[in-house]
Amino acid sequence: MCGIVAYVGPRDPAPILLEGLRRLEYRGYDSAGVAVQNGAGIAVSKLAGRVSKLKELLSREPLCGTAGIAHTRWATHGAPTQRNAHPHIDCTGRIALVHNGIIENADVLRAALERAGHRFSTETDTETLAHLIEEAPGATLERRVIAALEHVHGTYGLAVISADEPGKVVAARLGSPVLLGIGEDELFVASDASAVLEHTRSVVYLDDGDIAVLTPTEYHVIDSESHVQLRSVADIAWDLTAIELGGYPHFMLKEICEQPDTVQSTLRGRLLFDDGRARLNGLNLAPEDCADVRRIVIVACGTSWHAGLVGRHIIEELARIPVQVEYASEYRYRRQVGVPGTLTVAISQSGETADTLEAMRAARAAGSQVVGVVNVVGSTIARESDGGIYLHAGPEIGVASTKAFTSQIVALALLGLYLARERGMSLERGQELVCRLAQLPQLVRRALELAPVVEALARGHASQHNFLYLGRGVSFPVALEGALKLKEISYIHAEGYPAAEMKHGPIALIDQSMPVVFVAPKDEVYPKVLSNMREVKARGGRIIAVTSDGNGDLTALADHQLRVPATAPLLSPVLTTIPQQLLAYHIAVLRGCDVDRPRNLAKSVTVE
Ligand code: AGP
Repeated sequence: MCGIVAYVGPRDPAPILLEGLRRLEYRGYDSAGVAVQNGAGIAVSKLAGRVSKLKELLSREPLCGTAGIAHTRWATHGAPTQRNAHPHIDCTGRIALVHNGIIENADVLRAALERAGHRFSTETDTETLAHLIEEAPGATLERRVIAALEHVHGTYGLAVISADEPGKVVAARLGSPVLLGIGEDELFVASDASAVLEHTRSVVYLDDGDIAVLTPTEYHVIDSESHVQLRSVADIAWDLTAIELGGYPHFMLKEICEQPDTVQSTLRGRLLFDDGRARLNGLNLAPEDCADVRRIVIVACGTSWHAGLVGRHIIEELARIPVQVEYASEYRYRRQVGVPGTLTVAISQSGETADTLEAMRAARAAGSQVVGVVNVVGSTIARESDGGIYLHAGPEIGVASTKAFTSQIVALALLGLYLARERGMSLERGQELVCRLAQLPQLVRRALELAPVVEALARGHASQHNFLYLGRGVSFPVALEGALKLKEISYIHAEGYPAAEMKHGPIALIDQSMPVVFVAPKDEVYPKVLSNMREVKARGGRIIAVTSDGNGDLTALADHQLRVPATAPLLSPVLTTIPQQLLAYHIAVLRGCDVDRPRNLAKSVTVE
C-alpha cells in the first residue's frame, strides 16, 4: 500500500531516502515525506504529490542530518494532503515515524490521547502511533515503541526516530512487509528490496511481531519481551537493471515485452521431457501425496484471481481434481468447511496481498495444506505457505500486472501436469504437454509482433467510453483480464463476460458505439463463439477478434482480427492475453494516462 524506507549510517540520509522512495513509488504515490535527525532535533519535509516533487522541494530546502526515515503514501485514512502525508510527529516534535498499514482502533486511541492532552494535527490513523510512543514509558525508544504497540489493533510496518537517541532507528512489523538492508557500514529499513538494492543485496526479512533496532554500528531484532530473535540474512537474486526502465517509456510496456523471457524463466528447470513430467521442487507435495488431493481451492485477488480461473480449467482437465476459485476477500470471512484432502493454492504476484494472506491462514486453520504461487521471493505468503512455486518473473513494477499473469498461468499448468502425472496421466500425454509448454516462450515472442497493429487499432478506440470483452471456457478469464487491464490504466469502463451469458442481459448494451473484444482461439468452443459474434454483429456491434492461426478468416464478422500463434487450447490464454495487454497499454498512453501509476491504485494491497 505505502512504501517506507529508513537509513542509518555515515552518509547524508536525504538523497538515499529519496532514491529509496522513488523505487517504492509503485506501492503508493499520492504524497511523500522525509524526516531526519539533525542534532537540533528532527526536521521534516513532506507534501502531497510525487516523490519527484519532494526531490525538487529538498533541492530548494535541503534536509541534512544523520539517521532518517521516509514514506510514499497510498491514502487510507485522511485525504492525500500535505498535512496527512507522513512522517508524523508527536506533540513535542521529538518523535517521528512512517507507517504502512492500518490502525483499526485509532479512533479509540485518539480520543483517549486527546483526553490526556495530546494535540492532533492530521486526520490519519498513523499519527496516533506517534502520540502513543510519546505517552509510553521506557528508557529507550524501542522500549517505548513496544509499550505503545501493546495498545494497537491493526497492521503495521513502521520506522521511528527520536531526537533523544540520535543515530537510532526502530522498526516494527505486524502484517505489513518490512525488511532490513545490511550494508558495509550502513543499515536500511524498507518495505521491499527495490529500495535498498542500489546499496546492498543482503536483506533480513522481519516476521510479524519483530522489533528491529538499528544503530550505526549494529542491528538486532527483538520480540515484545525484548528477547533477541535470530533472523537469517538472505541474498537478493535480481539486480538494478530489473527495476530500471531499460529504454522503455513505461515499466508496463517493458514487462509486456519481457514475457518471452519471463515465461522461459518460469519453465526453467521444471520440464522433464523424457518423463513427460513437471519438476516442482519447492512445492513440498510428495508424488505419493498427489493421489490424496481430493479438491483444490484457489484463493486470490484481481489479476491473480483471473489466473486462478484459467488454472481451474487446466487442473480439472489434466488432473481431474475439482477446483474452486475464490475471491480471497470473500473466502476469508466465510466459515470454513474443512474437507480432508483439500489443497489450497494462494496466488499472489506480490506475496503480500492482505486478503489472500488471510484467506490462506483461514484455509490452514481449517486443516488445509497451503501452497503459494508467488513472484516476490521472501514475501509473507511465500514464507508462510507449506510449499510453493516461484514465478521467477523478476520484479513487476508496473501497477497493472502483465508478465506475472502469463507466468501464473504457466505455473498452474506445471502444477496441473505435476498432479496429473502422479494420478494416471499417460507418458505420451505428459510429453505432449511438456513440448507445448516448452514452445510457449517462442510463441509469446511471435504474439508480441502484433504490437504495431494493436497500436494502430488503439488509435481508433482511445476515445471510447465503454468496452465489452467476451470469451468462453478457458478464454472467459482472459476476457475478464482484458477488461481489467483497460479499466485500471485507461479508466474506460469495461466488462468481461462469458460470451454465452451475453444474451441474458448485456446484449442490450450492444450498438455501433460499443467495441466488443472476442477472445476466440482455436478450441472446442470456437464454433459457439462464432455464433455469439454473429449475435453481436446483427446488432451493429464493432468486433475486435483475438483469434489464433488456423482459425478461418473472420472478415465477415470482425472489424479487426488479431491473430496469435496456435497452441494447446488450455495454454492459449498465455498468448491471447498479449494483444489485450498491448491494446490497454496503447489506449492508456493515447489518453495521456499515467500507465505505471494509475490513479487510486497501488501495486500491493497490504491492507483489507
Ligand atoms: C492487477 O493489474 C492489479 N494490480 C491487481 O488486481 C492485482 O492483481 C491484485 O491486487 C492482486 O495482487 P497480487 O497478485 O500481488 O496478490
